[in-house]
Amino acid sequence: MAKVKTIFFCKNCGADSPKWVGKCPSCGEWNTFSEEVVSKSSSSASKVFGGRDTKPASSQHIREIVVSEERRIQLADQELSRVLGGGLVPGSLTLLGGEPGIGKSTLMLQLALGNKGLKTLYVSGEESQQQIKMRADRLGLSDTDCFVLTETSMQNILKNLKEIQPDFVVVDSVQTLHTVQVESSPGSIVQIRECTGELLRFAKQTGVPVFLIGHITKDGALAGPKVLEHMVDAVLQFEGDRNHVFRLLRSLKNRFGSTNELGIYAMQGSGLQGVDNPSEILISNKDDSLSGIAIAASIDGARPMLIEVQALVSTSAYGMPQRTATGFDLRRMNMLLAVLEKRCGFKLGAKDVFLNLAGGLRVDDPAIDLALVCAVLSSNVDIPVDTKTCFAAEVGLSGEIRPVSRIDQRIGEADKLGYERIFVSQYNKGLNNAQYGIKLVQVKRIDEVFRALFAG
Ligand code: TYD
Ligand code: MG
Repeated sequence: MAKVKTIFFCKNCGADSPKWVGKCPSCGEWNTFSEEVVSKSSSSASKVFGGRDTKPASSQHIREIVVSEERRIQLADQELSRVLGGGLVPGSLTLLGGEPGIGKSTLMLQLALGNKGLKTLYVSGEESQQQIKMRADRLGLSDTDCFVLTETSMQNILKNLKEIQPDFVVVDSVQTLHTVQVESSPGSIVQIRECTGELLRFAKQTGVPVFLIGHITKDGALAGPKVLEHMVDAVLQFEGDRNHVFRLLRSLKNRFGSTNELGIYAMQGSGLQGVDNPSEILISNKDDSLSGIAIAASIDGARPMLIEVQALVSTSAYGMPQRTATGFDLRRMNMLLAVLEKRCGFKLGAKDVFLNLAGGLRVDDPAIDLALVCAVLSSNVDIPVDTKTCFAAEVGLSGEIRPVSRIDQRIGEADKLGYERIFVSQYNKGLNNAQYGIKLVQVKRIDEVFRALFAG
């Protein structure tokens, strides 16, 4: 019997070592090494599909390399198509990550079923064929050319791929796959790495695009070693608040397009629907004036959208003021409250402040600072902000209103949605009031904004 060979792998970065070590020499994490059984043999992908030419390739001058016309597969799902950079690239391997229950399987099943004229294979190691069929019925999509395979063995998957010859493949999920090439258990680093490697070789050799679903760990990183992210062509992340309907599809890495694109979906009873105009849905209240609400003209990736910021300021009952923020960085909120306290003289130190972004979104855009500050002030003085007003500016530590990027797009979006007035920084250069239908209010300091809003 052959001797069993074991190697230690770092769970964080995938580095290997013949002995156990406490601190990973490659990524510096502590206590991440675990022992796994390995055995070496040639890849089954190259066995099934024939290896590449073994002749050494000769180099070519870059001028002489001929690029064949890029042929992207157009998808019915416009949001996904855009996030991928304008369609699906043949031979690409895409990893889709996201928390459990966020809708990864739904998105991918919709993709596999929703494209008439494309033959697809949906491989699932997580659900039974009946479960998948039930979900397909629920989505109202079951008359397309889609094959379902419930299998976790890499060799059987590759055999099926050879028989069916689909136009693209979805594999749910990478953590359930296993290959006979290595002896460790499914979900282990070696297995994940090896199976992804085989799918990668399959994709590159046949030109069939592959989607791979991956689980996400508690702290939001893709489970499995970082090497996975290096191996694939694109990494997409599906995120959102499970209790809300909105889901965002971001691209964290894309070899074939920009990572600025953002896809927005709404999770409905009959699956995920693309949202064309997020601003219209994110603003819940357009008519009544309520205090504590301000609208921010934000940009996520390349998409401008107006977001409703809600704040509640109330006197603290227990002497220990509470601060909570949903969808916004709490530390940044505390900083903005300190600016209000110190630079503008608002006594917020003994007040509870609760902040919420409508729709369960998470936004990192600094341009929502001013809307946040105005929502807090509005709630504090209990005077509503005019519903036809919105904001796009960052607030600095000394209470100055700072310019933000892509101001034209933000103003354009607010204008399109019928807002009458937008507060921007005076330091945004080259803005011309006559150019827009919406009135620009250019401000320098936070107290100017306060006077303009509440003292009139
Ligand atoms: P799922 O795709 O199974 O999530 P993941 O694969 O990321 O773990 O989606 C799970 C949730 O989606 C489930 O809690 C119910 C919801 N859902 C709908 O609201 N509508 C639908 O049509 C479907 C199919 C799912
Ligand atoms: Mg799933």
